[in-house]
Amino acid sequence: MLLKDKIAIVTGGSSGLGRAIAEGFVAQGARVIVAARTPAGRDGGTPVVEAINAKTPGMAKFVACDVSRISDLEAVVAEAEGWGGLDIMVNNAGILEKEPILEATEETFQRMIDVNVKSVFFGSQIAARAMVKRKSGVIINLCSIAGMRGTGGFSHYNMTKGAVRLLTYSLADELGPMGIRVNNVNPGIMRTKMNTEDDPVIGTETGEEYLDMIPARRWGEPEDVADTCVFLASDMAKYVMGTSLVVDGGYLRI
Ligand SMILES: NC(=O)c1ccc[n+]([C@@H]2O[C@H](COP(=O)([O-])OP(=O)(O)OC[C@H]3O[C@@H](n4cnc5c(N)ncnc54)[C@H](O)[C@@H]3O)[C@@H](O)[C@H]2O)c1
Repeated sequence: MLLKDKIAIVTGGSSGLGRAIAEGFVAQGARVIVAARTPAGRDGGTPVVEAINAKTPGMAKFVACDVSRISDLEAVVAEAEGWGGLDIMVNNAGILEKEPILEATEETFQRMIDVNVKSVFFGSQIAARAMVKRKSGVIINLCSIAGMRGTGGFSHYNMTKGAVRLLTYSLADELGPMGIRVNNVNPGIMRTKMNTEDDPVIGTETGEEYLDMIPARRWGEPEDVADTCVFLASDMAKYVMGTSLVVDGGYLRI
């Protein structure tokens, strides 16, 4: 039980990686607030909070949250404080949209910034204001290998993930002396709706060619990211600060 009695928030926790992180945290003894727009996620099936509480009653709570709204983020952190005090903040919610630069619009640009960057900036700030009272806490930001290498057609996604990577380093420097550890997780291509619907790679011919470039010779599973987050959230990682952990089956190798 690496996270026994800890209280965590996972934004965008009703689908994909966030869902696996929420389940992984509960399996290690944490109570989790799933902060998402709807209890039901993109993957279908039993909503994650219902599924967790059916197995382990009282370990998960749903709080409605649009991460691009600061007031929603404040309400989620207040809920965690009321539940016993926020220990772990996972800024996971994010969107991916493909748009060639010559066709890019101000609307897409703004949406990408609001959901992928503003949410992490203020999510971290609001979480840290709570954690600093106890001089202890962990913030994990879901970045991406797309924040480390640019790809045509994904300029705004690359830009937002790169911004979050640097933001994490600044926060680690500023909040570390206050007892708060801040790190990034950079997933590669994971089996979620992001890679089956938003930018369909998995299950396509291009995808098969892609697999040959991944030394692990398989797609990432949400549990691969969840395990990494459990490690980073736990005391096993007590001296891991301001770093970018890449979880990509060896694809990037930098
Ligand atoms: N899947 C991958 O291969 C991959 C790779 C690298 C990084 N990531 C990052 O990991 C995170 C999770 O991605 P995923 O693959 O699980 O995607 P996903 O689409 O399965 O899940 C993302 C979740 O975020 C939620 N969300 C979107 N906008 C929101 C908003 N305004 N407020 C609240 N919730 C919102 C969605 O509803 C969804 O539940 C994202 O930040 C993504 O950029 C994913």
